[in-house]
Amino acid sequence: MEPILEVKDLHVSFSVRGGEVKAVRGVNFAVGKGETVAIVGESGSGKSVTAQTIMRLIPSPPSKIKSGQVIFNGQDLLAKTNKQMEAIRGKDIGMIFQDPMTSLNPTIKVGKQITEGLIKHQNLAQAEAKQRGIEMLKLVGIKNAEARFNQYPHEFSGGMRQRVMIAIALACRPALLIADEPTTALDVTIQAQIVGVMKDMQKRFGTSIIMITHDLGVVAGMADRVIVMYAGEVVETGTSMEIFKNPQHPYTRGLLRSLPRIDQRKDEPLIPIVGTPPDLIKPPVGCPFAARCEHAMKVCQNIDPAPTHESDTHMSRCWLHHPMAQEVKSS
Ligand SMILES: Nc1ncnc2c1ncn2[C@@H]1O[C@H](COP(=O)(O)OP(=O)(O)OP(=O)(O)O)[C@@H](O)[C@H]1O
Ligand SMILES: [Mg+2]
Repeated sequence: MEPILEVKDLHVSFSVRGGEVKAVRGVNFAVGKGETVAIVGESGSGKSVTAQTIMRLIPSPPSKIKSGQVIFNGQDLLAKTNKQMEAIRGKDIGMIFQDPMTSLNPTIKVGKQITEGLIKHQNLAQAEAKQRGIEMLKLVGIKNAEARFNQYPHEFSGGMRQRVMIAIALACRPALLIADEPTTALDVTIQAQIVGVMKDMQKRFGTSIIMITHDLGVVAGMADRVIVMYAGEVVETGTSMEIFKNPQHPYTRGLLRSLPRIDQRKDEPLIPIVGTPPDLIKPPVGCPFAARCEHAMKVCQNIDPAPTHESDTHMSRCWLHHPMAQEVKSS
């Protein structure tokens, strides 16, 4: 599949008083045209920092992009000026955040917030932009769109605000949408509706989506592929089927056991992963999961495993799956 986005060997750190938090450590992945890729992982694994780096929305300082490339439509976003990025954000790449109340401007009517991008990026005249804005509100399932266009964010419910966010993010028909926990603040029924709206919009516009979520139901319902992050690294990637049916990395298996699923049986308890992620000021030299892994071998403490491939689409970084694991085990 032709990629719309390729993240290559991305390293991002934060300067803090105690040293340098190495939040993203050599992340590689690609997103195909029209594809939905989910990024999952425990809190602090580097999902949002990766997303914000792609959008160049990460405050610097304290952050520093140490190395890597973010190739979007053949161009490295990390080499763009802030002004060039402003032209790309909203137009070619849209973003939706967890809490629409902090990302929507409470002092401006929602209609104006939708048309702003259309006027800025697509040179639409006011009347045309308004027409398109109302059409977008209708498409994301907002009734009485004409009247709603003239209301403020606080006049909308949480689910409706998230629909407005989707309308704003997709108004200029971006090729890529990055959604960072778009359903986390919503109750289950509304979550399902928002996932439905996103899927519907993707079908309509062919948008590629990066979906960051803790919700395996959202992953199963939307994602073509899944990226599992741990301690700033990608430890496993595969199609949704590969990750759910045949997880390779002990961390992925632990994550699947620890997060709720739609098909969760009542007698099937959630089992948290014992221990805590490593301190990213001094990340371990070996596999970052070794200290919490019930299968850890001596080599795991000392050398970070290279990627091994279960299939063309399924990669994991774990010594257990290394072709020479037997020798490693017995050494
Ligand atoms: N402004 C900052 N200053 C210092 N460290 C930061 C800053 N922002 C993020 N970090 C660190 O970077 C790491 C990755 O954070 P990130 O927000 O990407 O996690 P996440 O995977 O999105 O987690 P969550 O699921 O909780 O949203 C964490 O260790 C975090 O403490
Ligand atoms: Mg986050």
